[in-house]
Amino acid sequence: MAKVKTLFCCNDCGYESHKWLGRCPGCSEWNSFFEVKTTPAGRKSSAGPVQAAPAPQILRQVDPGREERFSTGIGELDRVLGGGVVGGSVILLGGDPGIGKSTLLLQAAAKLARAKKVFYASGEESLRQIRMRAERLYIKEDIFSAALTELDQLLEAAAELKPDLLVVDSVQSFYRAESDGVPGSVSQVREVTAELVRLAKEKNIAVFLVGHVTKEGVMAGPRMLEHMVDCVLYLEGDRYHSFRILRGVKNRFGSTNEIGVFMMESEGLIEVANPSHLFMNRSSEPAPGAVITASMEGTRPLLVEIQALVAPSNYPTPKRTSAGIDLNRVALVMAVLEKHAGISFFGLDTFVNVVGGVRLYEPAADLALAISLASSLKGKSVNGESVAAGEIGLTGEIRPVTRIRQRLNESVKLGFKRFILPAANLEELKKEKEKFSGLKLVGVENIREAIAVGLLAN
Ligand code: TYD
Ligand code: MG
Repeated sequence: MAKVKTLFCCNDCGYESHKWLGRCPGCSEWNSFFEVKTTPAGRKSSAGPVQAAPAPQILRQVDPGREERFSTGIGELDRVLGGGVVGGSVILLGGDPGIGKSTLLLQAAAKLARAKKVFYASGEESLRQIRMRAERLYIKEDIFSAALTELDQLLEAAAELKPDLLVVDSVQSFYRAESDGVPGSVSQVREVTAELVRLAKEKNIAVFLVGHVTKEGVMAGPRMLEHMVDCVLYLEGDRYHSFRILRGVKNRFGSTNEIGVFMMESEGLIEVANPSHLFMNRSSEPAPGAVITASMEGTRPLLVEIQALVAPSNYPTPKRTSAGIDLNRVALVMAVLEKHAGISFFGLDTFVNVVGGVRLYEPAADLALAISLASSLKGKSVNGESVAAGEIGLTGEIRPVTRIRQRLNESVKLGFKRFILPAANLEELKKEKEKFSGLKLVGVENIREAIAVGLLAN
């Protein structure tokens, strides 16, 4: 009989310790330790046969086989996955509650069910609820479904049905009775995921796992969940807007650069193949504080409007808020404006927003952000026909951005007349300026120049 050992494990990051700790040294979370009983595993028992260790092979001589991919029938989802689902792979889909994870996977399941056998297992909703959602989505295909929460029942059902695709909604709602912890705790989530990964590889079933995220936006339960699977996708967006962005953060079979854009409508998630024009208000009367930037989302350019509002504060400590851009990035741009462009935000509240609930991660948005802040502060509007892109350095220089040609082409396509870009990028385009017909290219070296150019009437 193996000796049972007691361990304490952090519910957030999976940190293990031999004694209970009030604060986790791994993630600094308070009161997150719980007890787990483990039996030393992996030790060779003297009885059973010992398998020979595999002999190392020369990589070049290994048969790569053929990677079997199938389309989900949803172009935007395929794009993020790098061209469809790889057979036997495990894909984790995270996102806030109510963002549309179940809807997306039910839609994908329906499309896939035309050619494949699909099993949708829900630990969160009853079959009636799933049926009702399917009605709303006008799903006519045959999807095998079950409402259960016990892992072993799920594994049994899957082994019996032998589907090509299994959807597990959600990983936190399943549990195994003989393991420690309540459903959703580290040990349960680890156990459920490990079993499903094994099922996927052994039976060649592609598995979609829904994962909840915590309020900080990371996958609930330990980070190791992300390590165990092949792909990690996040569905994000603002509940109060209909746009949803599907972002890949890990992909063992492709790049993680691509995003998928959807709109949540009454008949489910609708793909947006050409999203560029969605994230801006183009009115004839440009308002102070609104500036368009050309952001690259994967290989696709996206024109997005950044809005800033700078107003006198009634508080001793002025308010600084931002939606869609990291607040630290906003603080950095504001500090550079203060130091190198002589624009003071002392005693002023600043609010920043990106239209349509999009999140911008690229530093190329800095330039438009700086111009929008200055524009609101000075009450001068920016010519509505302008686009700006450039990264701002700490010394006030405007640094070049990648893929400038695509950003320019997209602006030409949408009828913009002026593009404010880093001088270094303009230099690189010296010989091909005429390609961007109708677009006036204005190169800027530093922040002071950029603000002057940006707020110029035309
Ligand atoms: P859901 O897929 O249940 O989210 P998650 O699984 O991520 O928690 O989506 C829930 C929301 O989506 C719900 O509040 C209503 C909305 N919705 C639509 O707007 N249209 C639809 O066709 C469907 C099915 C849902
Ligand atoms: Mg759901």
